[in-house]
Amino acid sequence: MDSTFEIGLGNNDIKTRSDASQDSIKFWEGQAAKLYWFEKWHTALEWSPPFARWFVGGKINASYNALDVIVKKSPNKKAIIWEGEDGTKRELTYQELLSEVSKLANALKSLGVKKGDRVTVYLPMVPELIMSLLACARIGAIHTVIFSGFSAKSIRDRVEDSKSKVIITSDGGTRRGNVISLKDIVDEAISDLDFVEHVLVLEHTKNNIIITKRDKKWHELVASMSSTCDAESLDSTHPLYILYTSGTTGKPKGVLHGTGGYLTHVFSTFKWIFDIQDSDIYFCTADIGWVTGHSYIVYGPLMHGTTQIMYEGALDYPTPAKLWEIISRYKVTILYTTPTALRMFMKFGDELPNSNDLSSLRLLGTVGEPINPQVWKWYFKIIGKEKCPIIDTWWQTETGGALISPVPGLETIPLKPGSATRPVPGVTLSVIDEHGKEVPPDSKGFLVVTNPWPGMLLTLWGDDEKYKTVYWSKYKNMYYPGDYAIKDKDGYIWMLGRADDVLKVAGHRLGTAELESAFVSNKAVAEAAVCGIPHEVKGESIISFVVLKEGVVPTIQLKEELINHIKKTIGPIAAPDQLCFVKKLPKTRSGKIMRRLLKAMAKNELIGDISTLEDEASVDEIKTALDELQQTLDKL
Ligand code: WTA
Repeated sequence: MDSTFEIGLGNNDIKTRSDASQDSIKFWEGQAAKLYWFEKWHTALEWSPPFARWFVGGKINASYNALDVIVKKSPNKKAIIWEGEDGTKRELTYQELLSEVSKLANALKSLGVKKGDRVTVYLPMVPELIMSLLACARIGAIHTVIFSGFSAKSIRDRVEDSKSKVIITSDGGTRRGNVISLKDIVDEAISDLDFVEHVLVLEHTKNNIIITKRDKKWHELVASMSSTCDAESLDSTHPLYILYTSGTTGKPKGVLHGTGGYLTHVFSTFKWIFDIQDSDIYFCTADIGWVTGHSYIVYGPLMHGTTQIMYEGALDYPTPAKLWEIISRYKVTILYTTPTALRMFMKFGDELPNSNDLSSLRLLGTVGEPINPQVWKWYFKIIGKEKCPIIDTWWQTETGGALISPVPGLETIPLKPGSATRPVPGVTLSVIDEHGKEVPPDSKGFLVVTNPWPGMLLTLWGDDEKYKTVYWSKYKNMYYPGDYAIKDKDGYIWMLGRADDVLKVAGHRLGTAELESAFVSNKAVAEAAVCGIPHEVKGESIISFVVLKEGVVPTIQLKEELINHIKKTIGPIAAPDQLCFVKKLPKTRSGKIMRRLLKAMAKNELIGDISTLEDEASVDEIKTALDELQQTLDKL
């Protein structure tokens, strides 16, 4: 099925992707000029690989671009239409959002927060979450949002790393009818972190919480503040936020984004990929705890004065048709969601979307994982009624914004189900082999980005060396995202999933190393190995192999206890679907766990040639390891 779309061609001043390819730096300068700068930059890009500094000398403020610029033109335009799981509704105009943000910014100042200080935000999907990011940005504080599904231990590690002075949280968040007491989780997380000076607590669910001396109540403190607060004039390279994400080793990494370059990338791509118009009602189902929410709920849409829907809760609760009801109720025109959500709704059947009026939709986006062609087709046919383009956007926390995506407002290209099509204007990519040589069309290789782009991370918080090793050491002067890809004969890119030990479970990014060390932190566990296997809805599911300490008896209760231990240590999103007790983990002679062997075994794929399974092990070694593993699995 090839689908060709030509929509909204008036929205862009560039007409083809090749407009950008001659001189990409000049091209990005043209895009940056569309933002509001207090002072213009003198150098578009200072590139001392692998560190890029965009629009150097320029002075800018993210909150000013997202609020004041819009308020000057259309103060009464609706910014956020919020709905809670129980049907409660709230609406905020751009003017109202600006005054709330200013009050909060003044409140943060009163708590001693200064330019460059870090503020951790641990809130459910409520408008105050958006306000928190913009209030930090307004005064030049660096926000670091933690997804509200993470555990106390995960919060502790992140707060410890960022050394946040203030934490913003709420009494609770709602999910599937239950109230999760976020404040209690924060209390547990920071019990021994003395550098946290204040916790600002929003009253949202009104459940009982303990208020101590270091806590401030949002409504008491913020209400008394002035509703004007000048936006700080900040260097273009001033850090806007840290967002922690999982990698192949150890603890999550603090991805650090700057201001001017990041905003330019997000402003441009939001306009291009969604062909955004003043009349649109936009709904992105991501949580602001992830990068999609930062770029395409907070900064991108607000900088364009977009009206958007914000929903707190599960998309299939209280009814499995919740998402379709929201679209129909608010006449949503653009939906941006994940393949996991689509696979879940597809399983519920066509009746639910068919019995809701989805005729307002004109554009359908997807992000976070590869979208299977059959899911793409279902989205196109059943949700979009064959009249909406599917915008499959490939990107990462580190890239700041979309790097590969169809651009319907820009040009007419046939879409191919399952391909994110081509790089966005101003971005150059390649698919290469182990040695850095471009692979022939239709062959699998590693995706790399060959030029710096404005949304790219500045570095990893406090760890330039790690930044260099993780992304820039595999290939010289090329950014390595860690994904397999194919470029077909027409130049379309097909993303094939991670090439490293990072999992994508229901679109959430998790590191196997992080999970394994969480297992080992339990007193019953000697060693653990984790891998992902394909899952019908979640894309990937976690399977874990655990070696118990001498004398510990494997029982069903212990299995449950260990799964709970993972939930407590990382968060419920990291709970393994399967846990197998084994006597020994299969390892190479040099001591590396044969993860691919475990994976192949879990997928029942151990027929035929196994010599390719582990580069470092002989076939005999693999066979022995496998035999031992299978014997112990049968016994336990
Ligand atoms: C995967 C999410 C295929 C990929 C914005 C990437 C995708 C990782 C797509 C980043 C897509 C994201 N098609 N795979 N459209 N979008 N990915 O940092 O493996 O949570 O490296 O950012 O998600 O995940 P992250």
